[in-house]
Amino acid sequence: MASVTSPIVLVSNRGPLSFNEDSGRLVAKRGAGGLVSGLGPLVVDTDTMWIAAALSDGDRAAAAEGIIEAEGMRVRTLAIDPTVLRQAYDVICNATLWFLHHGLHDLSRRPLIDEGWRQAWDSYRAYNKAFAAVVAADAPADATVLVQDYHLALLGPMLRETRPDITSVHFSHTPFAPPMQMRVMPHDAAAELLEGMAGHDLCGFHSTRWSADFTASCEDVLGRTPATFVAPLAPDPGDLNAVASGAACQAAVDEIHQHLGDRQLIVRVDRVELSKNLLRGFRAFDQLLRDRADLRGTVIFRALGYPSREGLTEYLAYRQEAEALVDVINRRWATDDWTPIELDLRDDFPRAVAHLRCYDVLLVNPIRDGLNLVAKEGPLVNERNGSVVLSREAGIHDEMADVVLSVNPFDITEQAAALGAALDRSASEQATAAAALDIVARARTPKDWLDDQLAAADSVRR
Ligand code: F6P
Repeated sequence: MASVTSPIVLVSNRGPLSFNEDSGRLVAKRGAGGLVSGLGPLVVDTDTMWIAAALSDGDRAAAAEGIIEAEGMRVRTLAIDPTVLRQAYDVICNATLWFLHHGLHDLSRRPLIDEGWRQAWDSYRAYNKAFAAVVAADAPADATVLVQDYHLALLGPMLRETRPDITSVHFSHTPFAPPMQMRVMPHDAAAELLEGMAGHDLCGFHSTRWSADFTASCEDVLGRTPATFVAPLAPDPGDLNAVASGAACQAAVDEIHQHLGDRQLIVRVDRVELSKNLLRGFRAFDQLLRDRADLRGTVIFRALGYPSREGLTEYLAYRQEAEALVDVINRRWATDDWTPIELDLRDDFPRAVAHLRCYDVLLVNPIRDGLNLVAKEGPLVNERNGSVVLSREAGIHDEMADVVLSVNPFDITEQAAALGAALDRSASEQATAAAALDIVARARTPKDWLDDQLAAADSVRR
């Protein structure tokens, strides 16, 4: 799979397989998430070992078996004390680091850095130590260890101490907190976090912006600049087409066509996640209907969102706010035969891909996003020469700026105008824009991303 001869070990919180116990037998199935769908196919039938946390009872049973070979993968799940895992994942990873990196905190109220938070920070350290111990024990000699994301920021120095033969690369799939944001963390924890990341041989990011923010925070807190590289991930056209051509997807496409008639379709597909900016997206559509009487009744906005992290009150409240806002807008504009916004919270991937096949306009308007694969997944399968309205704050905007309608995700007026402009495009304007989108969407593959990481590791191998 790689140009290097060094064995590869992948390390992430969420693994490529999830396990269930069925009549005392362990049954493996492909895990969820962008990382798995991007990287999974590349590691199948290779020697690559993937180490991940045990997130369910089935995963914990799998952990007791050591390295498991299933679905063409070699996976080691790691059973971490449930309290340590909960504190590390909920309090530090999700409620602190995710919020800091995406600039989501309502700073007059959150975060609360108290005794409970400090205990959770200890758990985060313990969680990272548990991973470091397993990597140190299981990684082959001279391995290249590819550590994924903010869950595992502290592994670098821990591995360097126990396994100096290893070359470790840390890759962030999120944006990175600039100094002003990083100063929200207690100074000692911020220093530990940044030392942890800088203790890897290299740190990778999806965008030069996030890499620059990381560098600036390191200069501010540590007074030095670690080595970084930039390598955006990309969706796999083959994988996506396999879903797009399946029966479940076709059945959903048939339903969409029947439902739409000759109306136009705006689509969004995201996790129900604060950074994805669902609320301003709905407000922009509301504004469009206010500004453009001619569009009323002629366009449907389908928002597909699968609920996530509902253990955090902010996420549950956000979902409820989204549902309530959709209700208000629909009550304002709906007619007997037209509901302007349809919010669909089923977790149904073929159905999501069906909507990507059918949109006239794809709205991707995150407040801040490490990359955002949906912006390229849409053009890869879309069959209606659809347009993409894309936030300038998504990492993928770096690559797509010339082929999308760019918007400021905070500016509802601009987003309403961009949606209107996309819906107004003539057939020939649509065809020209879609051809340009297609070229950009195919320019990179997941393998390019992986090869970039391995090449970067080779360049610093001691
Ligand atoms: O965006 C980075 C990422 O790691 C995604 O791959 C994933 O969707 C998310 O963050 C983490 O989600 P979860 O907390 O559900 O594992």
